[in-house]
Amino acid sequence: MATQKLLLLPGDGIGVEVMAEVRRLIAFLNKSGLASFETEEDLVGGSAYDAHGKAISEDAMKRAQEADAVMFGAVGGPKWADVPYEARPEAGLLRLRKDLGLFANLRPAVCYPALADASSLKRELVEGLDIMIVRELTGGVYFGEPKEIVTLESGEKRAVDTQVYTTHEIERIARVAFDLAKVRKGLLHSSEKHNVMKSGVLWKQVVTSVHKSEYPELKLEHILADNCGMQLVRTPKQFDVIVCDNLFGDMLSDVAAMLTGSLGMLPSASLGATDAKTGKRKAMYEPVHGSAPDIAGKGLANPIATLASFGMALRYSFGLAEAADRLDAAIAEVLGEGLRTKDIAAPGQNAVSTSDMGAAVIKAMEQA
Ligand code: IPM
Ligand code: MG
Repeated sequence: MATQKLLLLPGDGIGVEVMAEVRRLIAFLNKSGLASFETEEDLVGGSAYDAHGKAISEDAMKRAQEADAVMFGAVGGPKWADVPYEARPEAGLLRLRKDLGLFANLRPAVCYPALADASSLKRELVEGLDIMIVRELTGGVYFGEPKEIVTLESGEKRAVDTQVYTTHEIERIARVAFDLAKVRKGLLHSSEKHNVMKSGVLWKQVVTSVHKSEYPELKLEHILADNCGMQLVRTPKQFDVIVCDNLFGDMLSDVAAMLTGSLGMLPSASLGATDAKTGKRKAMYEPVHGSAPDIAGKGLANPIATLASFGMALRYSFGLAEAADRLDAAIAEVLGEGLRTKDIAAPGQNAVSTSDMGAAVIKAMEQA
């Protein structure tokens, strides 16, 4: 079995605790011969700022470029509220996405049957929910220039962010979304605001043309982003795959996450283009939740989003679909048995710690 190189970037806050469970899972996979991983670790976010004065060091970036995949925890916290904007913890994450060319962010929102009651919506609305949000990740208002705050002659300030997309950027994310829809239910919703934004007009045109010329057998629906947010909380099961820009994807994926019961459940994969020569693609996997400084260091965090993100790495980077299925089944089993971290526990129900949850998932995998 070829050895795969993984770079672990736990980051800040609960990122550190949840990544510890991934480390244990990797040790189990290596020991049982299901996989062969070699891991390296480095700092990102506030912890990197404390050590190097920037949100990610050049050395860590080099390791990320060389790894077969990167596992990312979370960044940020009140401790770094006043660091310079360029060195804020989030800058490390954004640089990884940009420099590795990770334009396609896959955020599946799956409601495990055992958790339907943890959702803020009624059980019948979310039970069996399985949607995939495909978020464009290296363009749009996150990276558009100019991006600045200038002082006007009057002394007043003016802030600018720039929303910008090119045909090529829209085409490639549309193809990722259509390819996923093809192996799912054959339905793609494309979400933008063409009624207000030029980038929305182009987005809609380009997605329509990719559909017509390359995926005519699939169903494409256009939906305004505000309506999409509303429909997601009204009847979420009408969706299969949703494709959208960077900022709408950020918001809609948080909405979708909560439908599943907790932000602590949602994994994600960020993928680059496939290299025509090697067939490989750069990739980073991370939970959708943040660093949750309020509960950091207390063993309260839910490791499932991060474990499931590692499951996506097994699937999308390492071709280990069987191990990924086994991991998903183990998570469902543990939840089915009633094990809950605090974020998904019903009022009055006993909650287990981060490491108890991690250990239970690994044990269920072992016994599968
Ligand atoms: C996410 C996060 C990030 C984003 C932050 C931490 C920069 O909210 O991955 O959804 O806005 O993309
Ligand atoms: Mg977000």
